[in-house]
Amino acid sequence: MKVMVVGGGGREHTIIRKLKENKTITEIFAVPGNGGMAKDATLVNIGAKEIDKIVEFAVKEKIDFAVVAPDDPLVLGCVDALNAVGIKCFGPDKSAAIIEGSKVFSKNLMKKYNIPTAEYETFTDMDEALKYVETSKIPVVIKADGLALGKGVVIAESVDDAKAAIRSMMEDKIFGDSGNNLVIEEFLTGPEVSVLAFTDGKVVKPMVSSMDHKRALDNDKGLNTGGMGTIAPNPYYTKDIANECMETIFLPTMNAMNSEGRTFKGCLYFGLMLTPDGPKVIEYNCRFGDPETQVVLPLLESDLLTIMQATADGTLAETEVKFSDKSACCVVMASDGYPAKYETGYEMTIPEELPHNAEVFVAGAKLDGDKLLTAGGRVLGVTAVADDLKTAVSFAYDAVKEVKFQNARCRSDIGQRALKALK
Ligand code: AMP
Ligand code: GLY
Repeated sequence: MKVMVVGGGGREHTIIRKLKENKTITEIFAVPGNGGMAKDATLVNIGAKEIDKIVEFAVKEKIDFAVVAPDDPLVLGCVDALNAVGIKCFGPDKSAAIIEGSKVFSKNLMKKYNIPTAEYETFTDMDEALKYVETSKIPVVIKADGLALGKGVVIAESVDDAKAAIRSMMEDKIFGDSGNNLVIEEFLTGPEVSVLAFTDGKVVKPMVSSMDHKRALDNDKGLNTGGMGTIAPNPYYTKDIANECMETIFLPTMNAMNSEGRTFKGCLYFGLMLTPDGPKVIEYNCRFGDPETQVVLPLLESDLLTIMQATADGTLAETEVKFSDKSACCVVMASDGYPAKYETGYEMTIPEELPHNAEVFVAGAKLDGDKLLTAGGRVLGVTAVADDLKTAVSFAYDAVKEVKFQNARCRSDIGQRALKALK
């Protein structure tokens, strides 16, 4: 069986490692992957957004199953294009990927189907948006409608900041056409939880919960990043809250998408905030999270390929999705300066074996002969699994010490907030 994984970051590396446990797979192609995955997959030099070339390659190589991991190709219809030539995929089609592709769509969906989320208004007219924030409660949250590399959200601490954000999105178009429509919403408070869930449109099978650490610096200071580390499970996400989320959020979302004629098949990511009024949706993503995947999949005990095929086939109800009751921690090692300016091209040293069987999932690296060089802001994630969270965190940091490249920087407090919550 030949499998193709579209995407090139740490999330995709984690998916590939997990898929490799299935012995019916003879070859995995990473499109485009990155140099750090060369031992685990065959790298294919086609960009994740080059849909026509991806389809051509998949047909030529007789790919049996494709996993489309990143938001861009999903929103562009990569799954539709592969299905059209008879290739089965894990991932939503274009009509369902809109749940991440348009915040206006997802907010209106939640309103229509009574799914708990922050109160909001949508705007296509800048003057109306500017007028609206003059009387908004502060802080107020401004969101660009479309994909914006995870940077399309501004939490404005004053009316002036809110106006500046609106102008930068609608007038200066810093996110291009994503800023033509804005969502302006109420600021919510409470612990954040990420829940990734498999769904085939008939049932929802949530994975173990996790917690991302989005800010660049310790104690949640500094700029927002794609994620500097994760832990799983998230201690705030109790059994009772999980049951409540299933009833008020997960099933209603699946049913809402079905009612809209946009059946979602794949991994639906629920970004939740546990507010004093109960769990609410902050955002949906139409894919696995990065770096949530780096702690969630190492805890999966069932076979990933089988689950992914069942998700595509509509047989998820009969398929086992089992997680271990251990804990995992992933510490991201970034190039110093990320997410602003940083340097790359430094040689990396990743030992074959790390203490405590920790694993390295590479996000930004390229091969230069037999050397591996840094090639991105987030360079790699080091994941350790242990019986409890405290041990997983200390194992991950033990392993981080053995991975070396010039300019490496990581947060030193991944997991600390979760550990405090446990006490
Ligand atoms: P997003 O890009 O939608 O994940 O938003 C980035 C981050 O902004 C989230 O992880 C939250 O921490 C924060 N955020 C987004 N919407 C709200 C909101 N309505 N209230 C408070 N924080 C928010
Ligand atoms: N870690 C957040 C995301 O994948 O969007």
